[in-house]
Amino acid sequence: MANDHKKFQAIISHCKEYGFIFPSSEIYDGLSAVYDYGQWGSELKKNIKDYWWKSMTQLHENIVGIDAAIFMHPTTWKASGHVDNFSDPMIDNKDSKKRYRVDHLIESFADELEAKGDTEKAKSLLEKMDKLIAASDFNGLKELIENNKIRCSVGGTSNWTDVRQFNLMFSTQLGSVTEEANEIYLRPETAQGIFVNFLNVQKTGRMKIPFGIAQIGKAFRNEIVARQFIFRMREFEQMEMQFFIRPGTQKEWYEFWKKERLKWHLSLGTEKEKYRFHDHVKLAHYADAACDIEYDFPIGFKEVEGIHSRTDFDLRNHQEYSKKKMQYFDNDLDATGKPYGNYIPYVIETSIGLDRMFLLIISNAYAEEDLSTPDKQDSRTVLKIPPILAPVKLGILPLVRKDGLPEIARQIMDDCKNAFRCFYEEKDTIGKRYRRMDAIGTPFCITVDHQTKEDNTVTIRYRDSMKQERIPIHTIKSIVDKQIS
Ligand code: GAP
Repeated sequence: MANDHKKFQAIISHCKEYGFIFPSSEIYDGLSAVYDYGQWGSELKKNIKDYWWKSMTQLHENIVGIDAAIFMHPTTWKASGHVDNFSDPMIDNKDSKKRYRVDHLIESFADELEAKGDTEKAKSLLEKMDKLIAASDFNGLKELIENNKIRCSVGGTSNWTDVRQFNLMFSTQLGSVTEEANEIYLRPETAQGIFVNFLNVQKTGRMKIPFGIAQIGKAFRNEIVARQFIFRMREFEQMEMQFFIRPGTQKEWYEFWKKERLKWHLSLGTEKEKYRFHDHVKLAHYADAACDIEYDFPIGFKEVEGIHSRTDFDLRNHQEYSKKKMQYFDNDLDATGKPYGNYIPYVIETSIGLDRMFLLIISNAYAEEDLSTPDKQDSRTVLKIPPILAPVKLGILPLVRKDGLPEIARQIMDDCKNAFRCFYEEKDTIGKRYRRMDAIGTPFCITVDHQTKEDNTVTIRYRDSMKQERIPIHTIKSIVDKQIS
């Protein structure tokens, strides 16, 4: 799909206007690439987490969850390779002093070429860049930027420094200043909390390989070019799962998890054409195979989740650095009838960014609809969020603020609010209230009117079709429950 920056800008404004996402510390003019989730954003985010958590842990008998600390022993990051390898090539513009991640600078230029219809040149540029990054050829990268006359977006010049490596981890100090200072890092991925607890969980949970450990939590990266709203943030959340397997079986489990994860995405009703796999050419320091699940965001196809075959890299290195055995005894029998015995397991990882999943859901749900009739111009902005993820499931609206209708509506609210998130509203015309519920993605609204007093029925209105029908009050709960479970 061609980039739809207008739609992307409209989504950003919508998220702010309807209490989904605010710039962090906005009264102080915000903090670059850091965001706060508002009243409806936090509900949607929690629902995405619950949906992932349930599908990983409750629906897979051999996967359990943990919640490890963000702070970890500093040696963790030596062992994981992040101290030495978690860096990106960057370049500074000498005139504007603006710093760029080299790949992002070149990618933006390629986007511009593509927008001008020069697709072949854009493709060839990105291929050259991938090769140079894979070879860590920094001089070659600088030449590529200069030869293509890529300019700084701030000052407009192409007066560049050399390309250098920049570590993305945030560091801080543990303990008071008077005590011996101890430099520690804010975790750049949640995965290491799983690796260091591998044996704790395996032993206390009596887990047998293959098994997985899942975790949801914050991660921090000092992204150089943090842009595109919540797509690239400095503080974000990951939902990761490490699946521990017998060495030699990684190819089949890698394929299994690719399929399984795509199935999970499609279970939310998104069209298959909006997804694609992208195999990595340049592999991270820990992987022997890796791909991204990409989604067709309004800003183009972009990564939302990574599937990585991480070999035994992490456990082996933790064993070496900690001097504690990270081995598993496998008493299953091999083809010769002998137990597989002791080994360090291999790992397949699935790692999805919660904030990117949030952006995916909103992007997929956002629609501006023209509802004009020959007599009247009309339109609405609606979020067609899957009901199971919607921040509010049921809007409860008395038609007028009198004649005992609010009392009946309040009674319905009391009956339903324990089962799912409801929202009661009696201000403004019913049409305006429907539009507000559409804008936050509420899949069902019920209206209490004068007929309700006569026959105990209400009108239920469906968000997507806008169809309305009369139903008995006692069926409301089961109708909504059926749609959200
Ligand atoms: N443990 C493996 C790992 O962290 P990754 O590909 O660097 O792999 C996994 O990150 C996912 O985390 C990405 O697919 C993306 O959804 C999300 N992610 C990574 N960096 C992010 C950032 N700066 N802002 C928002 N989400 C990010």
